Amino acid sequence: MQLLSNFLKHKKTDPELVELIDTLMLACKEIALQLREGELAGVLGVTENTNVQGETQKKLDVIANEVMKKVLLDNPLVRGVASEEEDDPVFGNPEGRFLVTYDPLDGSSNIDINVSVGTIFSILEVPPGAEPSDSVELFLQPGTQQLAAGYVLYGPSAVLALTTGDGVNMFTLAHTGDFLLTHEDVTVPAETREFAINMSNQRFWEVGMQTYVSDLLAGSEGPRSKNYNMRWVASMVAEVHRILTRGGLFTYPWDSREPNKPGKLRLMYEGNPMSMLIEQAGGLSTTCYERIMEVQPEQIHQRVSVALGSREEVKVLLAYHQKHR
Ligand code: AHG
Ligand code: MN
Ligand code: MN
Ligand code: MN
Repeated sequence: MQLLSNFLKHKKTDPELVELIDTLMLACKEIALQLREGELAGVLGVTENTNVQGETQKKLDVIANEVMKKVLLDNPLVRGVASEEEDDPVFGNPEGRFLVTYDPLDGSSNIDINVSVGTIFSILEVPPGAEPSDSVELFLQPGTQQLAAGYVLYGPSAVLALTTGDGVNMFTLAHTGDFLLTHEDVTVPAETREFAINMSNQRFWEVGMQTYVSDLLAGSEGPRSKNYNMRWVASMVAEVHRILTRGGLFTYPWDSREPNKPGKLRLMYEGNPMSMLIEQAGGLSTTCYERIMEVQPEQIHQRVSVALGSREEVKVLLAYHQKHR
């Protein structure tokens, strides 16, 4: 089994990017250890704080964020980081080359019920000729600018899914503390019979989404002429991992509960990194109207509507939205 860093070197990955990915994995291994301890370490449950998203922070949201922030900013390659759990970006070495956006703990509503969660990360470069000042503007680059993206899913096994723009590969965390190559050149099946959506929001969706999902539920007697299965883990990392592994469609669309927000998920550290992985594995990832990775960010925590997965199924969803615009 090949070690992560040997695999990346074999692929002639930029050595400084390899170093940064190794640094990220140091943080994720620490987070995995904290998660495994759970109640024994008194890290479950909530804090009294509300984050910039308006969510009550779990203790492990804060712990995972502190681990990521410290480990990353200790590396002089890192110019700055932006986190779901930080109001504003935090800056490190002014000469640093890389910017990292991350969701330190995705799916944290699952922590107290011991269901899979993950860490999502996206790696950008400081734009050439950028102002020397520490500004959030440095981060506001479309997803197409990402150098690398990935997640670590803390499930029955801890698995890193990673792309550096040359396909998607997966590495499993061994008891030795090494990430070992376990799935090479991952591809998303083009067709699927499985969808993932939070059905309890059905009455709030736009007509295109309501019609699309109703036709999925109509099964073989309906317009899609096949029966579908449904999954909803409420951890985006787990949903995307399932789709990378066996195909499917995941969507968290706009809904009328917060009409002024395009959706619940965040562009910079959920939408973009997951879109890079899905596209690199041959899938599609859209806002239901346009390619997510082409959205020009205006704010670091901006939301985005997400529909991603098996490309033929995403194309059908897009057609429903075009028809019902
Ligand atoms: P986070 O825990 O980082 O705030 O993200 C949770 C997200 C995503 O992981 C998941 O797909 C979605 O929220 C679940 O939302 P609902 O709880 O509304 O189903
Ligand atoms: Mn959250
Ligand atoms: Mn998340
Ligand atoms: Mn989170």
